[in-house]
Amino acid sequence: MKFASRLKEMGESATFRYSTLAKKNKVIDLTIGRTDFDTPSIIKEKTKKALDEGKVHYTPTKGIPELRELVAKKLEKENNIQDLDSENILVSTGAKQIIYEAVMSIIQEGDVVAVPNPSWVSYEPIVKLADGTVKWIPLKAENGFIPDEDFFSVLENSNPKLIFINSPNNPTGAVYPERIIRKIVDIAERKNAFILSDEIYEKILYEGGHFSAGSIYENTITVNGFSKEFSMTGWRLGYAASQNREIINKMNLIQSQTVSCAVSFVQHGAVAAFTEEARRDVEEMVKELRERRDYTMKRMKNSNAVLIKPSGAFYVFPLFGEIDDLKFADKLMKKGVGVIPGSPFGSCGRGCVRISYGAVDMGNLKKAMNIIEKIV
Ligand SMILES: Cc1ncc(COP(=O)(O)O)c(C=O)c1O
Repeated sequence: MKFASRLKEMGESATFRYSTLAKKNKVIDLTIGRTDFDTPSIIKEKTKKALDEGKVHYTPTKGIPELRELVAKKLEKENNIQDLDSENILVSTGAKQIIYEAVMSIIQEGDVVAVPNPSWVSYEPIVKLADGTVKWIPLKAENGFIPDEDFFSVLENSNPKLIFINSPNNPTGAVYPERIIRKIVDIAERKNAFILSDEIYEKILYEGGHFSAGSIYENTITVNGFSKEFSMTGWRLGYAASQNREIINKMNLIQSQTVSCAVSFVQHGAVAAFTEEARRDVEEMVKELRERRDYTMKRMKNSNAVLIKPSGAFYVFPLFGEIDDLKFADKLMKKGVGVIPGSPFGSCGRGCVRISYGAVDMGNLKKAMNIIEKIV
């Protein structure tokens, strides 16, 4: 049988592939893009109640008004993105679906999307699905993968219709300072480009402040969700916001003709994510994640790797130099530790591996670091 040519170059997500391998081989799993915490109980209780109350039907395609209003208020209060109401918000089945809808709304054949290199593994395939062209914008380990002059000069000379930002970052853990985001916005404004600001790790922040491009540039699509902050990866719930309502309405068209809406009782349960109780649970989680990060950094210090302390998310992304990161990850897997090689995140990830401390307890993290130390 013949299949569509758009899938020719498409591979399975590298992170999912290595996570499956780690499970199969029963190794200590540092591949996972989630935490090992449970969803806050207040959210679970609210969801069960919604089920019992029969909230089992289609919702408006943009999502239930109550949830969208809470999201709009949160973005105004915490992210300083003004002039939002529920019509500027789109709720969907995870941030990934949201990103797909944004790219499909903006990009067509011949359009360029500027993507920092390295980046989360799904950005490039999503752009390709929309027949767009990825322009990789290089970042350097020595600079902690924060945009520098070279980054800005390549970005300036590209002709993007859409620019991706992801801070705190997957895979590097880098948090972009406000002045860096302002410089990216300046370029986007002059080039009349959209910005997609993926803020899914916003609350998993150890140092520095979080700054949203959407607070200073109306053609920003702010993407966030419940997966990482509330340990809800399996619930599939994310959202987009933009002061530019037109882009949200275009994305909603795709939503209405594909997934229709996010799961009804999941949306009702997520209303409880905006409570003090849920916030306290998140703070506890971040405290524990910080300890794991500090321990990982302490252990990595003795290696020759280039590694700048990540300020957010739950990854470290050391550069081991001229090594073949795919072979290195295979070798670690054989010795009992699963990590993700750096090159699937982009050519600037070559020689790196992504170590996730999100879903490993201290005992296993220690064991894993012993193994990594021996091999390095
Ligand atoms: C940077 C980034 N954006 C988006 C997502 C997707 O999140 P969701 O589970 O909401 O689809 C992930 C998940 O790993 C991610 O790391």
